[in-house]
Amino acid sequence: MKRYNVAIVGATGAVGKELITLLGERKFPLKSLRLLASSRSKGMTMDTPMGPVVVEETTSESFDGIDVAFFSAGGSVSKQFAPIAVQSGALVIDNTSAFRLDPDVPLVVPEVNAEAVRHHKGVISNPNCSTTIMAVAIKPIHDQAKIKRIVVSTYQAVSGAGVKAITALEHESRSHLAGEPVEPAVLPYASAPTHHQIAFNLIPHIDVFDEMGYTKEEWKMVKETQKIMNCPEMAITATTVRVPVFRCHSESINIETERKLTASEAREILSQASGIKVVDDPEQCIYPMPAHLSGSDEVFVGRIREDNSIEKGLNLWVVGDQIRKGAALNSLQIVEYMISEALV
Ligand code: A2P
Repeated sequence: MKRYNVAIVGATGAVGKELITLLGERKFPLKSLRLLASSRSKGMTMDTPMGPVVVEETTSESFDGIDVAFFSAGGSVSKQFAPIAVQSGALVIDNTSAFRLDPDVPLVVPEVNAEAVRHHKGVISNPNCSTTIMAVAIKPIHDQAKIKRIVVSTYQAVSGAGVKAITALEHESRSHLAGEPVEPAVLPYASAPTHHQIAFNLIPHIDVFDEMGYTKEEWKMVKETQKIMNCPEMAITATTVRVPVFRCHSESINIETERKLTASEAREILSQASGIKVVDDPEQCIYPMPAHLSGSDEVFVGRIREDNSIEKGLNLWVVGDQIRKGAALNSLQIVEYMISEALV
């Protein structure tokens, strides 16, 4: 069996660390593993399936001899180094927004559009985490009933905003409960003109606003979903909200379809779909919840019901681990698919 020289750019970050774990868990055929980050982490040792590996600073020479390079260190790092990695002969799986809407770059969720990988020119993009989770859940419905319109609201965990946001939720919660002043400094994002408390609060603001009043995160859900589903005419509107949950994004998804699906038909279709687990027994108070699902691979769907306000509509409640399926796992599944098809 062929073995691969793999590099992870952003190895010390949340997604990078999860990738290292997943390479071991899924027995990825590694020949070597190079861990790359900024100069801040140079020399640090991390445990990996290949034993302890010393983290190196990312440079133009980092990609010599690399077959597959996973990038998860922010858009500017990808823009700087992904072309160099491709030039060196590596396949790049990019987990940032740098190339997602580039027509020459496939944007892939294997359960939805695995075949798109065949058109790559060196870079394949992994979608935004909320987008991936939604795409897995809606694809089987779209295949059966053609989706015309989606109204989605997200409930996004703090880990999606990095390690500092996780620490902020911990510290702010402790301060609040101790009756001490809370001093927010991280959310909605580091350079924002004002910062808001996330403990015991919700922040309806992820990334920057545009002139229409939507955030970049909301537009990602619109544009990326249309691209992944190969359906530019699908009408989508989103509201993205940060919630005081450590890990797992949740989404309330309202769907209008061309053909009517009953709730039980939708439940049946979703139960058969790959990558989805239906958790839907409201009588027994059973539905997906983020606190229970951290570390899971699947996208969980519950509260499946017909929209009472229109003739052909459904409501779904969807939860997924955004660091796993929303990022690291999806990236790895792209490469696993390519290996199975002898494309890499
Ligand atoms: P470092 O730990 O050295 O800063 P997260 O989004 O979870 O905070 O992770 C970001 C990841 O991106 C980290 O691994 C971080 O490394 C890495 N990173 C940040 N800036 C750079 C850079 N200029 N070059 C390479 N890696 C970077």
